Amino acid sequence: MSFRSDFYWGGATAANQLEGGWQEGGKGVSCPDVCTGGSATKSKRITPVLEEGTFYPSHDAIDHYHRYKEDIALFAEMGFKMYRFSIAWTRIFPQGDESEPNEAGLKFYEDLIDECLKYNIEPLITISHYEVPFHLTQKWNSWTDRRMIDCFLNFCRAIFTRYKGKVKYWLTFNEINSATTAMGAFLGQGILNEIKTMDFMDQVDVPNNRFQGLHHQFLASALAVKMAHEIDPNYQVGCMQIMATSYGLTCHPADQVKNQQQTHLRNWFCSDVQCRGKYPNYIKRYFKENNITVKMEPGDDEILAAGPVDFYTCSYYMSACQTADPAKQKAGQGNILGGVPNPYLKASDWGWQIDPEGLRYSLNEIWDRYQLPIFVVENGLGAYDKIDEDGKIRDDYRVDYLRQHIEQMHEAVLDGVDLRGYTPWGCIDLVSASTGEMAKRYGFIFVERYDDGTGDFSRRRKESFYWYKKVIETNGEDLG
Ligand code: BG6
Repeated sequence: MSFRSDFYWGGATAANQLEGGWQEGGKGVSCPDVCTGGSATKSKRITPVLEEGTFYPSHDAIDHYHRYKEDIALFAEMGFKMYRFSIAWTRIFPQGDESEPNEAGLKFYEDLIDECLKYNIEPLITISHYEVPFHLTQKWNSWTDRRMIDCFLNFCRAIFTRYKGKVKYWLTFNEINSATTAMGAFLGQGILNEIKTMDFMDQVDVPNNRFQGLHHQFLASALAVKMAHEIDPNYQVGCMQIMATSYGLTCHPADQVKNQQQTHLRNWFCSDVQCRGKYPNYIKRYFKENNITVKMEPGDDEILAAGPVDFYTCSYYMSACQTADPAKQKAGQGNILGGVPNPYLKASDWGWQIDPEGLRYSLNEIWDRYQLPIFVVENGLGAYDKIDEDGKIRDDYRVDYLRQHIEQMHEAVLDGVDLRGYTPWGCIDLVSASTGEMAKRYGFIFVERYDDGTGDFSRRRKESFYWYKKVIETNGEDLG
């Protein structure tokens, strides 16, 4: 057995990380537009009032807004069957709460979709990828307010209607479960508990707001699934989770229980609601012990039950370990998602521990739990790339990373997992979501754009470009 003959090989991006053109075509300000650049060692900042002379990476990003035809042609040259991208909410509803959509924004994505279809590339659209209109953050503190649901559904209606017949696959919220961590509040939900300048890694966290926000997002997701099916019965709507794989640090039962609790909270809570249409029991205990009170209205249970997703998707980059021993817990963070380091694994330059087998392990867990088609819609290695004197970018470290993960996806397929597609992250270099850098590159395509704002945006094929082209051509047989 190998990958399905209709397996979707492709790549993934997000609007705010590559488009630029932040004020063109009537676009409004979105949350990432008020974030400065940062680095591996220095947090980016959130500045509700834009500072004169400060560099804001999303404003021009990699100028895909003007170069999408060139980029999609390069994706087609690699043989992409699927392209995952997101729609900037603020291009369609600049403030988020208007009643009528912005035609220029709708037209931009229509042209982009047509460009994909020209090459037989299936679009996979993330409706909300780490991007909320900043106006809604200022007005209601974003998803903490139930009125966000209607704004989101207006957005969904506008795009579901306009792109009917051209698009089949949709994802509601990117990495919705990031909001189970403090970092996900502004990043994923647009929640900012104090409207003032602060470090992105040091936000004022109000856990109750995040979980209340998630409840509203669950309702919005369920209602969007229902709406999509009503508008076009061919539409397939999926959830999108960070798969934060973790293991007990030792075989001590207390470590295993700790790991199970963390896995419930981080990996399963959101997908249980979105795939099964109801809250799992374990979260009730977590809410109680952590003083979380989520306001729900009569009828919410029915809404959730009526809108389970059609398929499951996740990102997968790394894993970590969990320990019940407070001393070991203090000794060092495992990666950006917490936990403690795994002594058997190496880490990327950003401390993300590389674990290809964890992907096989997790895909089996997901399949056993939901029996829904699965797509891995993000995976990849953020690394410092350099252009050699002959103009080549020899990113063999990236090829190694991707090869090992594809091998493990193949093992999962042999295990019986229903895996439908693979869209590695940042198929073209773009702005990092966590640090705001360009230096953290993931692409098969290098972009001449640097963290001081220099660079002419020109594109260049890396060695991994040719490698991935061969992988796709051979449907994953030749990982050379
Ligand atoms: C995922 C996000 O968390 O990881 C992307 O969905 C993000 O938006 C990607 O870019 C890689 O993370 P980073 O911080 O290296 O850009």
